[in-house]
Amino acid sequence: MGWWSKEAVITECFETDLHSHLLPGLDDGAKTAEETLSILRTMRDMGFKKWITTPHIFNDYYRNDAEGIKNALAALKTFLASKGESFDISAAAEYYLDEHLIQLLQDDKEILAIAGRFLLFETNLFSISPFVNNMIFEAGKRSLIPIMAHPERYDYIVSNKELLFSLREKGVLFQVNLLSFVDYYAVSAKKIARWMVDNDLVDSVGTDLHNPRQLLALQEIMSDRYVRKLIDRPLLNLNL
Ligand SMILES: [Fe+2]
Repeated sequence: MGWWSKEAVITECFETDLHSHLLPGLDDGAKTAEETLSILRTMRDMGFKKWITTPHIFNDYYRNDAEGIKNALAALKTFLASKGESFDISAAAEYYLDEHLIQLLQDDKEILAIAGRFLLFETNLFSISPFVNNMIFEAGKRSLIPIMAHPERYDYIVSNKELLFSLREKGVLFQVNLLSFVDYYAVSAKKIARWMVDNDLVDSVGTDLHNPRQLLALQEIMSDRYVRKLIDRPLLNLNL
């Protein structure tokens, strides 16, 4: 690995962000279209070029569906155009792994997968969902590849990181939050994120950006040596 400028780290490796909460008002992410615009501008200055934003679909808290998300994306694009701005932004979703997701898969309902293929899912922090094997099976029937969002942040992975190997064997890919490499979440998240880099378990990265506050921390990732180790890896971010 040679010398890379801060900008090059983003431009060459992560210019497509695969995880964020930038559709205003849909979840715990951006609150207004103005806030989204300001976040997008800052990220563009950092080198990001493309966004596949991923609102939560979590039946207990954020009752979003494919149609609502597509409508919110269209409204955001209209707003951006009214400000004379245009960003390469599309939408998928971050699905909470629960019975609702299984139902959507079984009922052949529309799934907002990243690039139409990758099903981004999250679980609670404390235990792997009892629905995980069912989800992998049902996703497979629909030719979807599951990507687990931020495994490094789950307590049950911190206490049993070998679980990642068995999930990998079942066909699950992993997406690490870029902010896990700096001191933003728990120390354990940073430790597991680094361990995942060393064990070739990072298939993609995402900012998981929710608000402008996180942008400052995001600036720091560019000089992190573990983030730089990812430069030579064939991350999904490069191909979508
Ligand atoms: Fe997220």
